[in-house]
Amino acid sequence: MELLKSARLISNVLFFRLKWGNPGEVDRHWENYWRTIRTTGREGQVLWDNEPERASAEDLPRFKPHIVDPSLPLLDFGCGNGRQTRYLIKHFDRVIGTDVSPSAVAKAREETPAEMKIEYRVLNGLKAEDAHAFHDEFGDVNIYMRTVLHVLQDEDKPKFAESLAVLLGERGTLYQIELSLCALDYFRTLPGNSPSGLPSHVHNVIKTGATSVGFDPVQRPRVYPDSKWEVVDHGANVTINTVPLYHGDEGRVPANYFILRPRQNGNGNGNGSHG
Ligand SMILES: C[S@@+](CC[C@H](N)C(=O)[O-])C[C@H]1O[C@@H](n2cnc3c(N)ncnc32)[C@H](O)[C@@H]1O
Repeated sequence: MELLKSARLISNVLFFRLKWGNPGEVDRHWENYWRTIRTTGREGQVLWDNEPERASAEDLPRFKPHIVDPSLPLLDFGCGNGRQTRYLIKHFDRVIGTDVSPSAVAKAREETPAEMKIEYRVLNGLKAEDAHAFHDEFGDVNIYMRTVLHVLQDEDKPKFAESLAVLLGERGTLYQIELSLCALDYFRTLPGNSPSGLPSHVHNVIKTGATSVGFDPVQRPRVYPDSKWEVVDHGANVTINTVPLYHGDEGRVPANYFILRPRQNGNGNGNGSHG
C-alpha cells in the first residue's frame, strides 16, 4: 500500500517535471500557479494563505525589535496575493510588496484597498538587474520574507541572497521564515485527495512546475556566508501554518527563521561601500 502511494506520487512528480521542464525557472512556474488561482484566503485555493494572525503576526515580535532603522520602508518579498502585506502595513509606515509573478502582483493590487497605500512591483530575486532597479527607486529597505527562498534550487540560493543584499543596502535588516525540510515529506503524512495522493492544495502547486526544495539551517553559511552576513538571530522548531487542508485542519509545516544583515565590509550590493 505504502509502495503504491509512493509510486503514485513519484509518477506525478516526474510527469510534471517533464511537462514543465527546468525547476529553476521559477518565474514561469509561479506565473503558471498564480494565473490559475480564483479564490484566496483561509477557505481558498492557496496553500499558505492563512490569516495573518496565524502567520505574520507570529513573525512580527521575532523581527521588529531587531530592525536597526525603522524609518526604512518594509519590503514584503515574494508577497503573493498580499495577505500578509496588508497586515504588515498596520505595523509599518510604508510597505511595498514584490513578487516574481505578474498575476500574483495583479491579485495583490486587486485585493488591497487603495487607502492602505501599499505599492506592488514585479521583481525576480534571481535577476540582479531587478534588485538594482528596485534599489534605485526605493533606496535601502527592511525585508520580510515568508516561505520564498525554499522554492529555489540549491544552486540558485546564493545568487538570490546577493539580490537581497542589494535591496537591504547599508541599513536594512532581513527576516526570513522558510520550510525546514522538503515540504513534500511532511505533506505525504497527511490524508490526500488528488491524483498524486497529496492534499489538493499541495497538488495544485506541484502541477504547475513550482517545486519546494526547503531550506535547512545548515545551508545558511553557503547561502549567507559569514564574510558577507551577520546572523542577528535565528530559531528552529517553528511552523508555517497552512490553510485548512483535506483533513479539515491546518498543515503545520516545520520551519526555521533567520534575521540577517549584510556586513558593512561585505560586497553584497556590488558597490563595495559597506565600510
Ligand atoms: C509559498 S509563496 C509565499 C507567498 C507569501 N510570502 C505568503 O506568505 O503569503 C512563494 C512566493 O514566492 C514567489 N517567488 C518565487 N520565486 C521568486 C523569485 N525568484 N523572486 C520573487 N518572488 C518569487 C512566488 O510567486 C510566490 O508568490
